[in-house]
Amino acid sequence: MDSKTDDDLTPGQPVTNESIDQLLVLGRQELLKVVDLEELEQWRLRYLGRSGALTIALRGLSSLPVDQRRVIGAAGNTARKSLEELYDSTLNTLQESNSRMHFQRSIDVTMPGRQPSVGRLHPTIQIVREITQAFSSMGFQVVEGPEVEWDKYNFESLNIPQDHPARDMWDTLWVDQQDKDGRFSTLLRTHTSPMQARVMERTEPPIRVLVPGKCYRYEATDPTHEWHFYQIEGLAVDEGINFAHLKGTLYEFARRIFGRDRKIRFRCDYFPFVEPGVDVSVDCFKCDGAGCRVCAESGWIEIMGAGMVHPKVLERVGYDPKKYTGFAFGMGPERIAMLKYGIDDIRHFYTNDLRFLMQF
Ligand code: PHE
Repeated sequence: MDSKTDDDLTPGQPVTNESIDQLLVLGRQELLKVVDLEELEQWRLRYLGRSGALTIALRGLSSLPVDQRRVIGAAGNTARKSLEELYDSTLNTLQESNSRMHFQRSIDVTMPGRQPSVGRLHPTIQIVREITQAFSSMGFQVVEGPEVEWDKYNFESLNIPQDHPARDMWDTLWVDQQDKDGRFSTLLRTHTSPMQARVMERTEPPIRVLVPGKCYRYEATDPTHEWHFYQIEGLAVDEGINFAHLKGTLYEFARRIFGRDRKIRFRCDYFPFVEPGVDVSVDCFKCDGAGCRVCAESGWIEIMGAGMVHPKVLERVGYDPKKYTGFAFGMGPERIAMLKYGIDDIRHFYTNDLRFLMQF
């Protein structure tokens, strides 16, 4: 016989060590096939129940001689124990997976899903993109530059030598690292203008670039000043560029960003790297020019500095100022966003208050 049948479990045969071993093997094999609690209970009745195979086999012990009875009785008890342990652990496993299935069945698949929280662009980045789009449609190319900058580009190439009083216009955060002459020569750029020289150094005119990027100043904050902010620099250099080109470009920009109703004002201003220099203002969005806290009672908000590129700046990068002229401008996109969206404090931009950020 190569497979066990129910005959092996038939009562009445003399019990031996072998028949107990056979029962054990058979019991284990059958237990492996059990898939649910009902089958397990049947298995228990068949082997361990009152009329189960093992119980009945052991009942035959009484007809054996005493010495055999002791040996076979001990083997029988071990077998019973082993089958009982197997029963317990199978019971545990089945109960556990049953409760897991119950949990799965209790999920309500008709419930609406949870809304994932979706990120969005920061308002500064949104306005930077809007502004760069306005200028790129006028033929300006977008380039970026380093935030940690050399004195050479941030000041000297812009016609602001060492110890020039105009350096006071930019309260500078210096990097704590001295050059061989014991001077601080590395800084966090105070404006995006250093990119003027960097671009001209590596390109020949005609040039039309727009440079958005972060700037830093060692400065106390108030509703219209931050110590860290963005600027967008513009530079156009070619033969025959004049102030009318600057005005035309900036008017076109203002119309695209603020609409036709906003007023724009040019006034003389001083920046060492432009001549003539101007500041460009838009009338105050909050009071429509009447004067309020946001515009410091002036009715106007300055949005950028601009001017014709100083001949010395052109000379320093090897351009002939008799042949080439250019204009440059630099604006603060946060201020532009404040005007557009009626934001009354620039400090909202970088305090990471979701109530503010979620509005954009
Ligand atoms: N870089 C100047 C500033 O930060 C702005 C500016 C740029 C002025 C270009 C004139 C021309 O104040």
